[in-house]
Amino acid sequence: MALADYTSELMATAQALAAPGKGILAVDESTKTIGKRLGSIGVENTEANRQAYRGMLFTTPGLEEFISGAILYEETLFQSHADGELMVDKLGKLGIIPGIKVDKGLRPLGGASAVETLCTGLDGLVERAADYYAQGARFAKWRAVFQITADGCPSELSVRENAWGLARYARSVQESGLVPIVEPEILMDGNHSIETTARIQEQVIQAVYHACFANRVLLEGTLLKPSMTVQGAECSEKADPAKVAAMTVRTLERSVPACVPGIVFLSGGLSEEAASIYLNHMNSIERKAKWNLGFSYGRALQHSCLEGWGGSNVEAGQKALIARAQANSEASRGRYVPGSQPSSDEQLFVAGYTY
Ligand code: 13P
Repeated sequence: MALADYTSELMATAQALAAPGKGILAVDESTKTIGKRLGSIGVENTEANRQAYRGMLFTTPGLEEFISGAILYEETLFQSHADGELMVDKLGKLGIIPGIKVDKGLRPLGGASAVETLCTGLDGLVERAADYYAQGARFAKWRAVFQITADGCPSELSVRENAWGLARYARSVQESGLVPIVEPEILMDGNHSIETTARIQEQVIQAVYHACFANRVLLEGTLLKPSMTVQGAECSEKADPAKVAAMTVRTLERSVPACVPGIVFLSGGLSEEAASIYLNHMNSIERKAKWNLGFSYGRALQHSCLEGWGGSNVEAGQKALIARAQANSEASRGRYVPGSQPSSDEQLFVAGYTY
């Protein structure tokens, strides 16, 4: 099989993931990261507890009304629910498309500044993606990370290398029928202004699409997962939601081709409420481009849910998940009324965060 055999399927999957009013649930925390989350509610990081937590998420009644896809970690893609049914079949029953994190994590980028990284996992990726497809996955994710610093990061080397890695990944998984979610995250670490973020984010996203063109990625069969255009977490001047929305939309309009069917934001450490309010603003203002602006949140969909679940309370966990899923669905249509759903204002940003 080759990319040409999957063209129409890739385009249909990307459209289904970017369906208006729906978003993606990012549940692809590595075993180490989910351990931190479980630890925060006093639950031990065992396979049984990961199974119980994620099994609770994937059996939430009505979730499919607001969620089009779920990004899984490899363990979950091949794992069964405690009742013996495969997790992917639980998702399939809800009509939610399973996806898979395919990158193998970040490594230091030799030759660049100490904070700069390279995303790994390209070796054998076409074959790995074919195995994931056979297991039911229909889309993939690869997260490259950029940090803004006063001494010139991201460097040209980091932008080039990470943009190229994202494009090689996108092309590789498309060859095995998976829609690539292209994720160039700009971290919130730092004290830079929102204008600085916008300038650098434009360069980064433009570099990503130049690399995608060079690698003949089928853009109609991809989604972009950017961070929102916000100031650094330590910047004293905080932009209001209207400014964040205007700057984010401007950045994307300057750098994302019109043929990309959907843009699904990561939450990146924003609070649950802020992630919904910013998305709502973006979908309330005049825009030049027509792509669907949705969500692919991890922390901003799971924070209250994890606390509600607390290790065993399935009903409370599912109730909190549905509340945030519905809020973000409304926000993706510009219809969210802040505070209308239970949420947390707690800043989820952690300096030096690793996924
Ligand atoms: P956050 O929304 O918690 O940033 O996670 C999304 C994600 O998938 C990061 O790669």
